[in-house]
Amino acid sequence: MRIIRSVSEMQQTALALRAAGKRLGCVPTMGFLHAGHLSLVALARERSDVVTLTLFINPTQFGPQEDLAKYPRDFERDAGLCRDAGVDILFAPVAAEMYAAGASSYVTEEKLSTGLCGAARPGHFRGVCTVVAKLFNLCLPHVAVFGAKDAQQLRVIRRMTRDLNFPVAIVAGPTLREADGLAMSSRNTYLNADERRQALVLKRALDEAAHLFDAGERAAAPLKSAMEKIITSAPAAKMDYIAIVDDETLAPVERLERPALIALAVFIGQTRLIDNVVLRSSPVTPKVRP
Ligand code: PAJ
Repeated sequence: MRIIRSVSEMQQTALALRAAGKRLGCVPTMGFLHAGHLSLVALARERSDVVTLTLFINPTQFGPQEDLAKYPRDFERDAGLCRDAGVDILFAPVAAEMYAAGASSYVTEEKLSTGLCGAARPGHFRGVCTVVAKLFNLCLPHVAVFGAKDAQQLRVIRRMTRDLNFPVAIVAGPTLREADGLAMSSRNTYLNADERRQALVLKRALDEAAHLFDAGERAAAPLKSAMEKIITSAPAAKMDYIAIVDDETLAPVERLERPALIALAVFIGQTRLIDNVVLRSSPVTPKVRP
């Protein structure tokens, strides 16, 4: 596995690989890798000849009150996991390499970014879009893999890729969970044992919504209140938002007639966790003629 620190070396390497006819896959991350990240590497592996995992804790996507300084990091451990997972290139630039002094250009997506986490974290998706656009320009991937766990991020990146004509296929990987259902996240390491137990309310709330939906409930309000009840049963939980939105437009819906995304963000103690589910009615099976 090759470790690249310099942005120009990354771009030159990607150009040379492309010239040699290689298909390039890319998995952008902020490190402190877990099995969820590595499942994205496996998806990239299936679709490309050379897999680059990018590891960059992107300062522009953190708000001033957020956890940039204490975001977990362990480069040696991450590099070992990448090696074991068959990553070919680990691109881990330092911030000064990624953002030139006086950098003043940004990429903004202005529709899908406004609600949900975008409302709770102003500027967050501008930072995400900017860094992902830069990573696309440096790693020159044919295919890039993102997790469904960050539902809004995935949709914003798809939109940006389409709108700005990046020649990159965006592939989504399903959310990997711990055995008890908690979605894997680098931020789970912030939780103490008691908070870790209480964090299960996110998945329990989503399961309850899916259960009510399967039983025929199509109104958003009762789903929301059933979820709220579960979340607030955990004393350490503080609701940031529960959103029931159209899966395509991310506009709030009152009824779940088309595929709907239920996304939630909950503070467990000081730690903000997110999770989501997409609910869609099962397609009507066509009648088979005798
Ligand atoms: P990070 O939080 O490190 O996540 C990197 C990728 O892993 C994202 O695509 C995310 O959706 C995916 N991921 C996280 N948890 C997952 C899980 N439990 N199962 C499957 N995939 C999971 O998301 C970011 O970094 C950054 O915003 C980034 C896109 C790298 C831009 O800085």
